[in-house]
Amino acid sequence: MSSTEITGDSKAIVTNQPGIHEKLAEIVAKHIEHPSQKPIQAHTQQAFDEMDAIVQSFSGPVILDSCCGVGQSTRLLAKQNPNALVIGVDKSAHRITRNVDDVKRDDGEGIVDNYHLVRADLNDFYRLVVAAKWPVDKHYILYPNPWPKAKHVQRRWHGSAVFPQIIAVGNEIILRSNWQLYLQEFQVAAGVMDFFGSISKVNDEQPLTPFEAKYQASGQVCWQLTIAKN
Ligand SMILES: C[S@@+](CC[C@H](N)C(=O)[O-])C[C@H]1O[C@@H](n2cnc3c(N)ncnc32)[C@H](O)[C@@H]1O
Repeated sequence: MSSTEITGDSKAIVTNQPGIHEKLAEIVAKHIEHPSQKPIQAHTQQAFDEMDAIVQSFSGPVILDSCCGVGQSTRLLAKQNPNALVIGVDKSAHRITRNVDDVKRDDGEGIVDNYHLVRADLNDFYRLVVAAKWPVDKHYILYPNPWPKAKHVQRRWHGSAVFPQIIAVGNEIILRSNWQLYLQEFQVAAGVMDFFGSISKVNDEQPLTPFEAKYQASGQVCWQLTIAKN
């Protein structure tokens, strides 16, 4: 989305949940005790294998941009971290064409080429990243789908079976949302695994993603949870 397409009509989250989901700690404990046994889908395995070859031959810091959508944040992070290898992952074919490495644009300040966009399902991809011990420094999850109905708590990342692997990726985890409760829940879920973080308002000069731009244009507050592991 270009800035001219950004409209200020984004609705604030509506939820039937008065606070942290009452079953959250129980759900996280279940997922720690019973890791997902689901087979890895072939398309994600293939996408991972291609990236794994690149990561294993790279010696600097790796940044993972999960749910990267069209990859705007992936590109910005690559520009801000020229020594890092930045990998953006999204499952949507509409948003990503797998390994579109050849469409690296020159915005007048030189071509940014230290990033890759990958189409893959993170429910599988995270498990492969953990098994391969990728040296991820920063792990971004920017504006994940909120699933605000209480009955959909297990569709939120902290309620999903892959949450223990999500937490295992990155020295630092940076999560953003326009729904503060999502971040508070993620914070509580991380606490179950003995990782602690803090929540603050986002006030970057330049929006990191199209969703962030849209929420800000609608006058909504965007929040960030930062979990630093060491
Ligand atoms: C609300 S959008 C945010 C996109 C982008 N981060 C932004 O802020 O503009 C959420 C994104 O998460 C992606 N997503 C949801 N579930 C996913 C999964 N299991 N694996 C990979 N991507 C997923 C969707 O395809 C969508 O692009």
